Parts: sequence; C-alpha cells; structure tokens
Amino acid sequence: MTMSKIGATEKGGVRRLTLTDLDRQSRDLFAEWASACGCTMHVDAMGNMFVHRAGTNEALPPVITGSHLDSQPTGGKFDGAYGVLAGLEVLRTLNENKIETEAALEVVMWTNEEGCRFAPACMGSATFCGAFALEYSHGRSDQEGKTVLEELKRIGYLGEGCGDRPVGAYFEAHIEQGPILEAEEKTIGVVTGAQSQRWYEITLTGMEAHAGPTPMERRKDALISAAKLVQEVNQIGLDFQPGGCATVGVLDVFPASRNVIPGRAFLTVDLRHPSDAKLAKMDEILRNTAESIAKDAELTLDLDQIWACDATNFEKSCINAVRKGAKAAGFSHRDIISGAGHDAMYVARIAPAAMIFVPCEGGISHNEIENATQDDLAAGCQVLLNAMLEKAGTH
Ligand code: GLV
Ligand code: MN
Ligand code: MN
Repeated sequence: MTMSKIGATEKGGVRRLTLTDLDRQSRDLFAEWASACGCTMHVDAMGNMFVHRAGTNEALPPVITGSHLDSQPTGGKFDGAYGVLAGLEVLRTLNENKIETEAALEVVMWTNEEGCRFAPACMGSATFCGAFALEYSHGRSDQEGKTVLEELKRIGYLGEGCGDRPVGAYFEAHIEQGPILEAEEKTIGVVTGAQSQRWYEITLTGMEAHAGPTPMERRKDALISAAKLVQEVNQIGLDFQPGGCATVGVLDVFPASRNVIPGRAFLTVDLRHPSDAKLAKMDEILRNTAESIAKDAELTLDLDQIWACDATNFEKSCINAVRKGAKAAGFSHRDIISGAGHDAMYVARIAPAAMIFVPCEGGISHNEIENATQDDLAAGCQVLLNAMLEKAGTH
C-alpha cells in the first residue's frame, strides 16, 4: 500500500511507467527497504536491481525471487509490485526469525517488464538472460524519441554489467491476472508454464486528401483498412479457441484532422496461444489477412514482428517446491498456465524457475481497480518462503 502511493491514480491504481521519475521514486524506496534488511544491492547496466542476503556458503549460486515495479498507464497496485515486495517480506521474516540459508537469497526488481513505454516487454530480464543484446535494449525509444539508455542515466539507475550473476533457482510470485483461481476457490496457482506470445507493429499507408471534394471511390483511406484489420485480428483470436488471444491495443491515425482522409494508420497486435504451433498458424493468418486488406485498398503495408517469446515450461523441481510449499502451509492449490507474460519466462531459459499465483478480484488486471485479498497475498508470500528455503537449504 505504501509503494502504491507512488504514481497513485484517482481510481485506486497506479501509473508508474518505466524509467520515469515515479519509477525512480519506487526504486529509491525499494533500495531503502532493502538496506533496512541489512542487504547489499547491485544495479546492472539495464537498471535491474539485485538485493543480496548472504548465505553461509557464498560459493553456491543464490536462490532468487522478484518481479517488477513498473506499471501499465492505467495499472493496478499488485501487478509486479507484489512479487518484489513478497521477496522483501521473505527476507524480513528470515531476519526476524534469525534463519540463515546455505545459498544466498536475492530479490530482483527487473526493469521495464510491461513494455508499454519502451517495447518489447520483459526487457530487463530478457537482456540479463541473453535473449536481447544490451545495445539493442539500450537503443529502444519511447514515443518522444527518448532512449532506454538516456532514461536509465537520467534517473540514476545505469549500473554495470548485465547477465554476469549466477542464478541457482528463480521463483516469482504474482497475482494471477485471470479468473481461474477465484472461480475455483483455490488460494495458490502452481504455475507450470506460460503461453507463447508475439508482438507486431503494422503501418498502413494510403493518401491524405480533402474530406469534402474527394469522391468516395477515389479515396485511399488508411483508417478504413485498419478498421477491417482490427476486426480480423479479433476473429483470429475467436478462431483459435480454446486458448487463443488476439488484441489490437494501439491505433494511431495520421494526420488526425477531422476534414482530412487519414493517409496513414499505425496499429499494434498482440497474439498469444499456449501452443507454439498454433501461434505460428495465427501468425500466418495475420500476415495473409493484412496483405490482402492492403492490396484490395491499394495501400502499402509494413508489418514488423517486434517480439516473440515461445511457450515456457517451468522446471520440475521448482514447480514441485511450489506445490510442496502450498501443501505444507495447508493452502488449496491447482496447476495453472500463465496467460500473462512474466520475467520468469526469460529466467527459465538460464536457470530452474517456477511461479506462484494468487487470486485477484474478478480476474481483473491491467486496470486501476485490480485487487487481491491480504490473506491470499500473505499465502503467496508463505509459499514463496517455503519454496526458497527448500532450494537454498537451511541450518
Ligand atoms: C505483461 O503484463 C503482459 O503483457 O502479459
Ligand atoms: Mn506483471
Ligand atoms: Mn502487467
């Protein structure tokens, strides 16, 4: 609740876009709380923050947990922040109970998980895990042309090195962001994997012309074709049930004047499916459909797939540690596949990883009204602690 005051919105959510001044404030607060836990902190060249609680055997790779503090433009309090603060809560609880672990424990705050100011998403973790080159991530720019590197420097969170830290195991706690746990009255989601996803940027270019004298049959209206494409993208999602999701989240029209026929339209597409093969089919249909819509209207088409993250299968022993942790604490649980993207998808490429979900009210997320109960959030922390202790070893 204290963290959610940073960037708080009137409707009870947060607007804390990555690498803004508000993001800096949330990082400063996280650093302050980490230091009060007696931990050291390392910031890497992507601004990822690693809080280290020493183990009795520092030669062992640390057991890490974490998530993100950045939010969507109309985001909720819990998406991301919960996972970071759940990690701190684990450290505080171990400190209070004077419990030492064999392997060190770390809490990480990944930069730019949301991907809304700078695309693509999961940028800090993907760079740490070697899926994105550091130069590529540093060079990504926002709508005003500011780059990730410039903004990291400006807010004072450009550190050194990226990806050169060992990871023994990784756990991420998160609200489910969907309706399954609440509907089935289960407290813990044992996350066994995450679905495949791809992001696209599409520009349709026609010709600007006067809205009065230009007869209907002579127009090259880019918005009309974009509108058809929006409908078709939605249809792709509907045609790939169960599991398919297809979304146009951004649609910009140029020059956006009421008496000019739109000469250019820009849209983003987000396609997801639990199966890589099904997603490849959705991709093919999207490309063919966009081409034929552009051709019919004599427009030029520029379709750029800017991101792909294949389906993730989390690691068995980490999944088991989560399930065992839920059982030991007496919480009801079920296995679940993540519909949302998470940093854990990238960490899973370089280390054993799994996730812990807790229910969220009405399954609603990426919305200011996002909510979760204190009991469920506490349960997720307990399972996180159990799983981390199992992997790190105690004395
Ligand atoms: C991350 O928030 C996503 O888009 O799933
Ligand atoms: Mn998130
Ligand atoms: Mn999110």
